[in-house]
Amino acid sequence: MQIIRELSVLRDAVREYRSEGKRIALVPTMGALHAGHLALVEEGLRRADVVVTSIFVNPRQFAPNEDLDRYPRRERADAQLLEKANATILWAPTIEEMYPDGFATNVSVSGVSEVLDGAARPGHFDGVATVVLKLFNQVKPDVALFGEKDWQQLAVVRRMATDLDLELDIVGVPTVRDDQGLALSSRNAYLTEDELAKARILPRSLGEAAAAIGKGEPVAGALTAAVARLSEAGFDPIDYVSLRDAETLAPIEALGERPARLLAAARMGNARLIDNLPVTVS
Ligand code: PAJ
Repeated sequence: MQIIRELSVLRDAVREYRSEGKRIALVPTMGALHAGHLALVEEGLRRADVVVTSIFVNPRQFAPNEDLDRYPRRERADAQLLEKANATILWAPTIEEMYPDGFATNVSVSGVSEVLDGAARPGHFDGVATVVLKLFNQVKPDVALFGEKDWQQLAVVRRMATDLDLELDIVGVPTVRDDQGLALSSRNAYLTEDELAKARILPRSLGEAAAAIGKGEPVAGALTAAVARLSEAGFDPIDYVSLRDAETLAPIEALGERPARLLAAARMGNARLIDNLPVTVS
């Protein structure tokens, strides 16, 4: 695996692969890699010949009060994992390479960026959209892979790709969970053993609410029950537990024709955790 830190080197490497007729996949990450990220790399290798994985802890998507400084950074271990997973290129630009002096552009996707995490973390999805569009332009992939774990991020990236006529496939990969259902996340590293055990209530309560709604129980009651369980488990604050249109993220009060998604965000100890599940009629 080639580790590249300069854009000119990346462009030459990618150009070479493309001239050989190879299909290129991009997996954008912020590092501290786990099995969830590696599932994206594996899916990339199924869909393309070359997988470029980026590691860049993007300051523009962290608010001043958030965890930019303590976000886990372990590039050596990450590089070893990627090597083992058969990734082709690790693209690890410096901050200066990504945002040179004078950088002044912001990519903002209205609507889908403004609700849920967009409301709880103002500016977050502008930072995501800006860096993801830059990564797309740097790598020019045929396909880019994103985890369903960050469902709203996936929806924002899809909207941006459609709106800006981007010529690539955006692929969502199902959430990878531990043996007790907790979605793997780099931020789980902030949890103590005790908090980790309590955090597992998040997927359980979402699963129960999704099943209840699927069986036709009233949505409001199912959501209230989930919030109560999270609160009892020690989640505080609970930013939202909400049933949404899976694509637009508009609130919905009952299941209909269009796919529905149940999404939640809540804090346990030092970690803000998010999770989501599909909701289907059972
Ligand atoms: P990061 O949190 O490192 O996640 C990188 C990718 O891995 C995202 O697409 C995310 O949804 C996916 N992912 C994380 N945990 C997962 C899990 N348990 N199962 C499946 N996929 C999982 O998301 C970001 O970085 C950044 O916002 C980024 C897109 C790189 C832009 O900076």
